[in-house]
Amino acid sequence: MHLTIQDIQDSDKIKRLNIINSITGIKPGNLVGSVSKEGKTNLAIISSVVHLSSKPPLVGFIMRPNGDVKRDTYNNILENGLFTINHIPVSHIEQAHYTSAKFETAISEFSRCGFSEEYLEGFEAPFVKESNIKIGLKLIEEVEIKSSNTRMIVGEIQHLVIPDNALDETGYIDLEKAESIGISGLNSYYKLQYLDSFPYARVEEVPMF
Ligand SMILES: Cc1cc2nc3c(=O)[nH]c(=O)nc-3n(C[C@H](O)[C@H](O)[C@H](O)COP(=O)(O)O)c2cc1C
Repeated sequence: MHLTIQDIQDSDKIKRLNIINSITGIKPGNLVGSVSKEGKTNLAIISSVVHLSSKPPLVGFIMRPNGDVKRDTYNNILENGLFTINHIPVSHIEQAHYTSAKFETAISEFSRCGFSEEYLEGFEAPFVKESNIKIGLKLIEEVEIKSSNTRMIVGEIQHLVIPDNALDETGYIDLEKAESIGISGLNSYYKLQYLDSFPYARVEEVPMF
């Protein structure tokens, strides 16, 4: 199958959405936890999390348009400047998927979708107890991406929770041991299997292929 931009533009809306959302490959599966000024918690599945820098330790994710549709996650993060990113565990993919439903602001996806809130001392945003890997972040910047009418929300890491058995002495995290998952498109979930690791790629050490 070869599709040109014309074919893509001409295809049925749902088919186009599915193809374009899947074509970049596996995306990380995360739940973004946030809380409003009034203390109402929110949880949303987000597949666009990306590492930006390790010094300072910055992570970003893409927030889709904020136009007519209300975005509790976005509003909460702007309101109190804190949020959490929690890996979806293999055991909770279905619950995580349904956090994407457009629930009323008064309904917390934590309780509605079967997740438990967990807090770290002095950090207001809720973590997901069922997740094995958790990140607590402070909002640093909001970058407008005009061409797609989206925003990148950039956060500085304040807290990291990683299971001891998934972290080696050099700092590598084994995502299979952490029972994290991968996402394709907007509805397909994959298990992760560790394959191999290789040293830093120096030109003089590249094997002959
Ligand atoms: C697999 C999957 C991945 C998603 N990834 C994103 C994302 O990266 N950015 C985004 O803005 N919404 C994403 N969504 C949609 C949000 O989960 C959904 O809009 C969510 O309910 C946010 O609304 P709320 O903040 O009002 O709770 C995704 C949905 C699914 C099912």
